[in-house]
Amino acid sequence: MQIYRRENYEAMSRQAADILAEQIISKPDSVLGLATGSSPIGLYRLLSDRHRAGELDFSRVTTVNLDEYKGLGPSNPRSYRYFMQENLFDHVNIPADRSFLPDGLAADDAAECARYDALLEAVGPIDLQLLGLGNNGHIGFNEPGDFFSAGTHCVALSESTCAANSRFFACESEVPRFAYTMGIGSIMHARRILLIVSGEAKAEILHKALKGPITPWVPASVLQLHRDVVVVGDDAALALF
Ligand code: F6R
Repeated sequence: MQIYRRENYEAMSRQAADILAEQIISKPDSVLGLATGSSPIGLYRLLSDRHRAGELDFSRVTTVNLDEYKGLGPSNPRSYRYFMQENLFDHVNIPADRSFLPDGLAADDAAECARYDALLEAVGPIDLQLLGLGNNGHIGFNEPGDFFSAGTHCVALSESTCAANSRFFACESEVPRFAYTMGIGSIMHARRILLIVSGEAKAEILHKALKGPITPWVPASVLQLHRDVVVVGDDAALALF
């Protein structure tokens, strides 16, 4: 595991953007696993800037996102599809039919999970999987629990996750209670994993995840078992290292 320590969110985002840019330049047909949330916004902005400056070509890139809220469609500004369009896809040249997320409007959970797993199998393996870290140690929406799940599943979001994500909604009661998420098995199958973490609120859980026991109660702790993980954190998040 390689850990980069950077002074703040901006510097963390620059370091992460360098890693992603290097991936795309060295393998133009890369399959990228992507995340939403606050952590990657700066990184997506920098990648968009580099594309605009003619430095990065996404025309052969494929992307697969970690998760999507159940019940939210692409036109809903709170959906992860909308987030990805707004923060990255609308600003770079990834072909429209080469960016994939679970379908939040799927009628049948089991069928949607099977469809997404089949899709991951067909486009994969993921060359670089980007991850943020939940306050409770989740990665994707793999919440703390009794076991590490292998494939895509529909998950009941924990209270702490709903509370944390309520900042993107008018109020907490609007946060969907269920989501589709890629499983830990699929995440671990990625060739390389890039975990980005910022802010003092994440310091303790980051330390637990990387230095504590490997347990499904801290889902990100499984990353200790992956052979190629890069962590980019800011000083506040890495305060306990
Ligand atoms: C988002 C995702 C989540 C977030 C995590 C951290 O697609 O999979 O695991 O990465 O909740 O979110 P932020 O970055 O908002 O602190």
